[in-house]
Amino acid sequence: MDTSIDFRLMTEADIPLGMRLKAQAHWNQTEADWRRFLRLQPDGCFVACCDGQDVGTTTVCIFGSVAWIAMVLVDIQHRHRGIGTRLVRYALDFLDRQDVATVRLDATALGRPVYERLGFAAQYDLIRMEVELPDGVSPMSEANAVVQEIEPMRQAGLAAIERWDRLATRTVRGKLLARLIAESTSRAYLTTGPKSFGGYVLSRPGTRAVQMGPAVASDETCGRVLLDRAAADWVGRRVYIDVPTDNRPALRWAEGRGFVCQRSFVRMVRGQPVSDDLQRLWASSGPEMG
Ligand SMILES: CC(C)(COP(=O)(O)OP(=O)(O)OC[C@H]1O[C@@H](n2cnc3c(N)ncnc32)[C@H](O)[C@@H]1OP(=O)(O)O)[C@@H](O)C(=O)NCCC(=O)NCCS
Repeated sequence: MDTSIDFRLMTEADIPLGMRLKAQAHWNQTEADWRRFLRLQPDGCFVACCDGQDVGTTTVCIFGSVAWIAMVLVDIQHRHRGIGTRLVRYALDFLDRQDVATVRLDATALGRPVYERLGFAAQYDLIRMEVELPDGVSPMSEANAVVQEIEPMRQAGLAAIERWDRLATRTVRGKLLARLIAESTSRAYLTTGPKSFGGYVLSRPGTRAVQMGPAVASDETCGRVLLDRAAADWVGRRVYIDVPTDNRPALRWAEGRGFVCQRSFVRMVRGQPVSDDLQRLWASSGPEMG
């Protein structure tokens, strides 16, 4: 028999629900992450309710013609009753009413069959690498002189970060990048140097580990410099980085710094495919918005 499910908009009052569900799934998001999803797309974050109980969440973020679906979580007591599928279908119905040509997401092993049934196809894999950066050992490389810190809300820096980001993701993600840079707990670095050489890296604390990324780099030297600079801020801390498996230099960097593979995600697409430049994409923002 079909479970009766209602959907409603998620608001900041639902952040404790989001935190409870993400803790069940052992995910890394913080209240600040939920708040960011809600502020980026206040009309696109939803709660599923079953018999008067809040049992699931999902968030959507639209970047022009490309949208991301994230935070698809169903209470462990209510799984395998079709709630996850109907949540994602509800988000897709919302997106079908907007001018969106492409819907993307990073799927876990549990999520993948749900998305495949709804018309998503796999694009490529990402590996979550994990390390506890040894205390007192700064991994900063000598080439650090070329890297410059961006202060929160420095618009000049944001424009350059957006440019590098667009080259790698082929998506205009300025509204996400601006928020990440503005958050007091985030760190942002951008390279300076010749025009064709450059990139950026952002990082922020999570509940289980620091999430390093998104990161974009023009080449291996630049990527190594940027990631070393970001890692130097988090010595003594547990760090996650989600790396496309096709970016061998990024994986080499992570392995060289002692990161080990924790899990994998598959990036999926529905509608018109968008092809990331995987040689430039050194790390995603987490399994949330590419
Ligand atoms: C992934 C997740 C959201 C799925 O939620 P869900 O409500 O269990 O999803 P559904 O019930 O729609 O589908 C799950 C399975 O139950 C089956 N199912 C659906 N209705 C059913 C019913 N009435 N009776 C029995 N099985 C049913 C589906 O066929 C599906 O099987 P499959 O995985 O073998 O294809 C949930 O497992 C979860 O929160 N996982 C942790 C977080 C996570 O990984 N999220 C996905 C991020 S990409």
